[in-house]
Amino acid sequence: MTSSVPPAVRQLREMALSAAWAASIRAAAKIGVADALGDEPAPVDDLAKAVKADPEALNRLLRALACHGIFDDRGDGVFAHTDVSRLLRDDHPNSLRYMTLWATEPWTWELWARLDESILSGENVFQSLHGKDFFDYLHADAPESAAVFDKAMTQASRLSARRLADTLDLSGVGTVVDIAGGQGQVLATLLEANPEVRGVLFDLPEVVANPDPRLAEGGALASRAELVKGDCRRKVGVPADLYLLKNVLEWDDDSTVDTLRNLAVAAKPGARIVIVENLIDGSPESRFTTAMDLLLLLNVGGKKHTQDGLVKLVSMAGLRVEEVRPVNAYLHMVVATVSS
Ligand SMILES: C[S@@+](CC[C@H](N)C(=O)[O-])C[C@H]1O[C@@H](n2cnc3c(N)ncnc32)[C@H](O)[C@@H]1O
Repeated sequence: MTSSVPPAVRQLREMALSAAWAASIRAAAKIGVADALGDEPAPVDDLAKAVKADPEALNRLLRALACHGIFDDRGDGVFAHTDVSRLLRDDHPNSLRYMTLWATEPWTWELWARLDESILSGENVFQSLHGKDFFDYLHADAPESAAVFDKAMTQASRLSARRLADTLDLSGVGTVVDIAGGQGQVLATLLEANPEVRGVLFDLPEVVANPDPRLAEGGALASRAELVKGDCRRKVGVPADLYLLKNVLEWDDDSTVDTLRNLAVAAKPGARIVIVENLIDGSPESRFTTAMDLLLLLNVGGKKHTQDGLVKLVSMAGLRVEEVRPVNAYLHMVVATVSS
């Protein structure tokens, strides 16, 4: 007699072990097995040789990933790519290799184990674990993780930068500042699409030290680009017609309001402030957005916003909200102006 496992039991059992999924994706991204596998299916022994892995252990890893559609198990130890596993390749135009590494960095694991504490307190646990702010830790104690973060942000922004440049009308804008713009993937795309516009990349010192080559000295856009290091929670001090904040206002609410107020102080009269976010209530990707929301609670005491929640914080900073509209399937744009 066969007795099948009730779907609810199977579901919860699998989910409780889902750290294995994340760890498997991380292991595959780290050892570069997706790069070793070409367009044709390949035996695991060849892949193991290419990435210097134990063949049996690699077979087990790929078998586990194939259960989730990451690699295709053709049987007899032969594996092929799927659309998902190809995204782990470095050379894929939409590569998410660094994004997957970032989402599974060593510091994330110790935070997840303490989620219950954050839920009870409503506070981040990073400060009590490491005795310092997340970004201070990243740059002082985990520079390799900081480098992964910067590359991950660049990869993530590559997916939406072109669409953002198409959506954002910069006519009449002389200078745009990308606040906490990472390495400048979005700013470079905006400058390429708007040859009259000058751009400023504003981020922490360690980040602007390693900008997108197009913005760096000798780069194609360098003559229209300026790199400014600073802490936008303290001061911005760069006058401009438009400030962009993409996936930045995800820390505690006080930091969000302080940053927006700092922009209002620096802005030219009538300047626009454009906030681009994955909104909780506007996202077709609620599993991704709600999971990121919890990670933000853990590391910076932050959040992903609802539309109303974000609009309220923008208003609290004394800015006038002009419109909220979609950028693409998963990003929204809140446009505000600085009252003159
Ligand atoms: C989630 S990333 C977003 C990067 C970029 N806007 C994008 O969408 O690709 C957040 C950025 O905020 C920067 N950052 C964090 N704290 C900052 C601060 N106090 N002042 C300026 N930049 C900061 C980080 O270095 C990082 O580049």
